[in-house]
Amino acid sequence: MTTSSDKTVTAVAHTNIALIKYWGKQNPELIIPYTGSLSLTLDQFYTQTSVTFNANLDKDQITIDGQPVTGKSGQRVHNFLSIVRRESGIDLNAQVKSTNHVPTAAGLASSASAFAALAAAASKAAGMNLSLTDLSRLARRGSGSACRSIFGGFVEWQKGSDDTNSYAIPVETTHLNDICIVALTIEKHQKPISSREGMAFSVTTSPYYPTWVKVVEADLENIKAAIQDDDFTRFGTISELNAMRMHALTLSADPDFLYFNGDTLTAMNEVKRLRHSGIECYYTIDAGPNIKVICQQANVQTITDTFSNLFGPTKVTVAKPGPGVKYL
Ligand code: PMV
Repeated sequence: MTTSSDKTVTAVAHTNIALIKYWGKQNPELIIPYTGSLSLTLDQFYTQTSVTFNANLDKDQITIDGQPVTGKSGQRVHNFLSIVRRESGIDLNAQVKSTNHVPTAAGLASSASAFAALAAAASKAAGMNLSLTDLSRLARRGSGSACRSIFGGFVEWQKGSDDTNSYAIPVETTHLNDICIVALTIEKHQKPISSREGMAFSVTTSPYYPTWVKVVEADLENIKAAIQDDDFTRFGTISELNAMRMHALTLSADPDFLYFNGDTLTAMNEVKRLRHSGIECYYTIDAGPNIKVICQQANVQTITDTFSNLFGPTKVTVAKPGPGVKYL
């Protein structure tokens, strides 16, 4: 039993938005996906987490925004800490203090920034000195999308086939650097079907799942080419298409389910109307009703004005590319 380490380590990780979605695990235990995915790390939404392993604790103590975390979420953090204990050889309970920094009412706190920050802080507090690749592998065990938040800017999660080769890498580019994400917070409340449940259900019951696996490979290659060609139109078109293909898996599940609500459809139509009027923008949607509008700096003002009029200014947040994980 290791009784060393009383060191508190604090890490900050930003959330990311997938443009090519991860939706389905071929290994649920190790979180190995069926497909690769590609995301943009954002500057606006991040999690700061401090971890201390301490011999005086009789169990893990976890707080988020000052509130104790229990139940399913607490168990998930505890399970993740046990992976860190196993891999580092430390045998102590941990104190975890996490704070989510999201603009008022954004409702966009995500498991991606949470598990990326936790992986960074916990591994270092346990005395491990992981490379960014190994940190990405570790973060993946907490939440798949977290493996991408280790890096800033555009990031690809290479699906791999086992624990050693499934991790994210940064997409080296200076292109599309005026990209903006206008996040619309249509609904603040937690989704009734988590992404974890939703994707598992899509894998087992949608007859289109095998087709999804095929088309994502092509979408991923095409979006990487669009980034290298600095082609925003192609980039946005592929992003929107890929998001709709993901949601088609929920509509074709048995029984079917849907993450959109009426306001989601209103916002989707508005994005299309803007686009047809010459304001170039596209949408992407994750496992919930909120929409992210993908655009370039030149059109941000028109887009934020349009959606502020429609939903109210507090529901609209502008994000830009953000950095990878950092220690404080
Ligand atoms: O990492 P999870 O289990 O929260 O799943 C993320 C799923 C999506 O956000 C819908 C897509 C993605 O690639 O981030």
